[in-house]
Amino acid sequence: MSRAVFQLLVVFVVFSATIYLLLMVGPDEPVGPPGERDITIPRAPSEAKNLTNPFPISDEVLLEGERIYQSKGTCFTCHGASGRGDGPAGLELNPRPRNFTTPRFHELRTDGELFWVIRNGSPGTRMFSYSPSIITEDDAWKVVHYLRTLPTRRRT
Ligand code: HEC
Repeated sequence: MSRAVFQLLVVFVVFSATIYLLLMVGPDEPVGPPGERDITIPRAPSEAKNLTNPFPISDEVLLEGERIYQSKGTCFTCHGASGRGDGPAGLELNPRPRNFTTPRFHELRTDGELFWVIRNGSPGTRMFSYSPSIITEDDAWKVVHYLRTLPTRRRT
């Protein structure tokens, strides 16, 4: 191999390595549009599936659930008054707050899994633990019943 060809090769290798390294040093957060996380991936450990709601559904329980969601629970600030995940405090979050008006979401989750997230939060997101610090565990179960009604409620 002639000296000139060898030098050219060295220049080429160094050049490629530099480009490669520059491409590697990107933002370490996954890039992509902010949005809701995939609903098919559970947020709670599998044993949470079997927790059962101690309250039978009634008009009274649903009304209490609604009051908690729309006031002291502060759920509406992120999840939106009608549950679409479009509350003012949720618009800039990544991942976005869950949209409770999607029927498929409710098919994929048991009451126990929803309760578990309200109780423990969803790690790595702005969904913190809201019970028992902000609402009691009984309140959390009532809110779960209310969340179930959001896909069929008239939009406000
Ligand atoms: C500060 C904003 C914020 C508030 C307030 C908030 N949430 Fe959330 N919530 C989120 C975000 C963000 C997610 C998405 C988490 C994820 O994708 O893992 C979420 C997800 C959830 C989920 C779905 C978890 C799943 O299985 O996918 C439930 C249930 C939930 N929130 C209930 C509530 C309830 C009930 C309240 C009120 C007591 C509340 N949230 C208040 C931000 C909020």
